[in-house]
This record gives sequence, structure tokens and C-alpha cells, in this order.
Amino acid sequence: MESLADSKVWADYNAAQAERPVRSLCLDAMAFAGPGNGRRAIDLGCGAGKETLAMLRAGWHVHAVDSLPDTSERLLAIAPPDADGRLSIEMRAFQDLRALPLAGLIFAGYSLPFIHPARFAGFWDVVLGALRRQGVLAVNLFGDRDSWADVPEWNFHTEAAARQLFDGLEILKFEVYDDDGQSFRGPKHWHIYDVIARKP
Ligand SMILES: C[S@@+](CC[C@H](N)C(=O)[O-])C[C@H]1O[C@@H](n2cnc3c(N)ncnc32)[C@H](O)[C@@H]1O
Repeated sequence: MESLADSKVWADYNAAQAERPVRSLCLDAMAFAGPGNGRRAIDLGCGAGKETLAMLRAGWHVHAVDSLPDTSERLLAIAPPDADGRLSIEMRAFQDLRALPLAGLIFAGYSLPFIHPARFAGFWDVVLGALRRQGVLAVNLFGDRDSWADVPEWNFHTEAAARQLFDGLEILKFEVYDDDGQSFRGPKHWHIYDVIARKP
């Protein structure tokens, strides 16, 4: 249920990401997962493609998903020449996905909160279904004290509800950030869970 206004926001956001480092949550997840060695990773809401590129460089085949229509153009412009055949791109809204390829590493950086709450559970099942045994899943989720928590189209979780999403997985990291800060839309209160989990 993404609007054109959302698309414009994400396009502007992604355009401003060129100089930032690779997200530490992704680097930590890659360290837990070990070298790619031709295994498949998924980058959900790949945006500017910084984490997609990092995973390609670490030897993963990467399936990059984002609803923005220029995603393919953006990723092909930054993909290294030796990524030929190792990068697949799916331009689709999460809530319209019925399946994902099996993967040993799934990363979703600041993207899953932007699914309508009524569609989140269905998509989460798709994500868990795509995770191989011993596969690593790393996501940011938004908490109920976040200042965007009154946006009805986005999903927010209490800490207990967020932890419950990982039932049956081994939680390798669960960090809570609950503080005032900045966003691309100005000052706000961030309430975020950074989670890394492994499927037994
Ligand atoms: C805040 S950006 C994060 C981008 C990147 N992962 C990062 O960490 O900087 C959110 C990204 O998710 C994508 N996105 C948001 N909602 C989505 C949805 N429902 N389905 C697919 N992609 C979505 C946006 O187009 C955008 O590129």
C-alpha cells in the first residue's frame, strides 16, 4: 500500500545515501553468516544498493528487492563487473511478494517497518520461509515509542512482540535504540530494534 508520495520520499532518501558506510547490522550479519562462497543473500528494500554491493563483494549471489521502479538501473550502475550472473533484482512491493528464493542470509535495513500492519504478518512468513537452516536474518524494526508510531500505514512493535517474531530462531543480537535523533525528515524520537537471528 505504498503511495506515490512514499516513492518520492524513498527516491530522495536513497539519493542521499551514496556516501554513508555499509550498515553495521549488515556487516555483523555477514560476519555471523561467513563467506558467501556462492550462496544466496537477499537484500529487502535495497535502496541505494550499498549493502547489496557489500554482499556481492563478499562472494554472495544477491537477490535485491525494492518497490522503486528505478532499482534495476541504480543497482546495475554500481554492481562490480564480476557480479555478472550473481545479481537478481525484483522490483515489487513486499506485500505483493508470494515467495522469495531460499537464502543463507537475509538483510532488511530500515525497510520492513514500511509495510502496512495488516500485511506484515503474511510477509514475515514469506521471509522466514526463505531462510535456509543455519541461515542468518538481520532486520531493523520500529518500536511502539517511535515518534512515527501514529502513522497507520507503517508497522511498529512492542519489544515483546518484536521478540516473538523470532520464536524458533536463535537470537544472536537484539539491541534497542530508544533516543531522540535526526531523520531525513527532521528531528524525531527513534525507537528501533536491531535484530540478528539464525535458523537452527
Ligand atoms: C529507508 S529506505 C532503506 C534503504 C536501505 N535498505 C538502507 O538501509 O538505507 C527504505 C527502502 O525500502 C523500500 N521500501 C519501502 N517500503 C517498501 C515496500 N512496502 N515494499 C518494497 N520496498 C519498500 C523503499 O523504496 C526504500 O528503498
